[in-house]
Amino acid sequence: MKGVILAGGLGTRLYPLTKVTNKHLLPVYDKPMIYYPIQTLVDSGVTDIMIVTGGNNAGDFLRLLGSGKEFGLKHLNYAYQEGEGGIAEALSLAEHFVGNDPVLLMLGDNFLEKPITDAVRRFRENPHGAVIFVTEVEHPEWYGVVEMDGDRVVRIIEKPKDPPSNLVAIGVYMYDSRVFDMIRQLKPSARGELEITDVNNMYLERGELRCERIEGWWADAGESIEMYLRANLLAARLNGVEIKLPF
Ligand code: G1P
Repeated sequence: MKGVILAGGLGTRLYPLTKVTNKHLLPVYDKPMIYYPIQTLVDSGVTDIMIVTGGNNAGDFLRLLGSGKEFGLKHLNYAYQEGEGGIAEALSLAEHFVGNDPVLLMLGDNFLEKPITDAVRRFRENPHGAVIFVTEVEHPEWYGVVEMDGDRVVRIIEKPKDPPSNLVAIGVYMYDSRVFDMIRQLKPSARGELEITDVNNMYLERGELRCERIEGWWADAGESIEMYLRANLLAARLNGVEIKLPF
């Protein structure tokens, strides 16, 4: 199983923090943001990893992470994304790296309390179709919202104004290697990007999408300044530090 972490984009929702640097290099408590998804993959048993990034700070990832020694890795792979084509376009840059293997995709600003070891093992044993990871949130309208009928996913709607549920697809996905053929069939969305939600809906239409509920909390540190701050506090708590204001 290959792991792909996306660390590109302009990070406009965190502006001006991202005016001169890449969002995924910003601190989250005591580490750069990108450290957390790498650790999640490694803790979930995925150690063959590619980082996809772009823009002016691409070289900083190499300086920061090198060959991944801090995570116990012997080697890290890198790809360079030109422009802002969306999550699915960024994933397509990893096609040669992934080859015929299944792939675990994680967005570099997503932050999970617990690893997803069991779900990864299950997909490795039967690497067919796609898996999304879901959880309930307070503001589903900021994310890809999952409409369920019992245990069955009915559809996924990207950032709907009027969400049908509080259940959202977090930025962690597993695919078989056909995902790259699916991405080639995509058309850009209204915001001009190749949407990962469209890929997931393609698998869904074929009856090949499964969904796994995560354990523990999840944060998308790139969603807004408030969520970025919340991710910092959650990271502190993971380290046993509870931040309370003195007045
Ligand atoms: C992306 C996906 C969305 C998902 C979210 C999770 O949104 O498009 O479906 O719920 O990541 O972080 P973005 O944060 O790129 O707007």
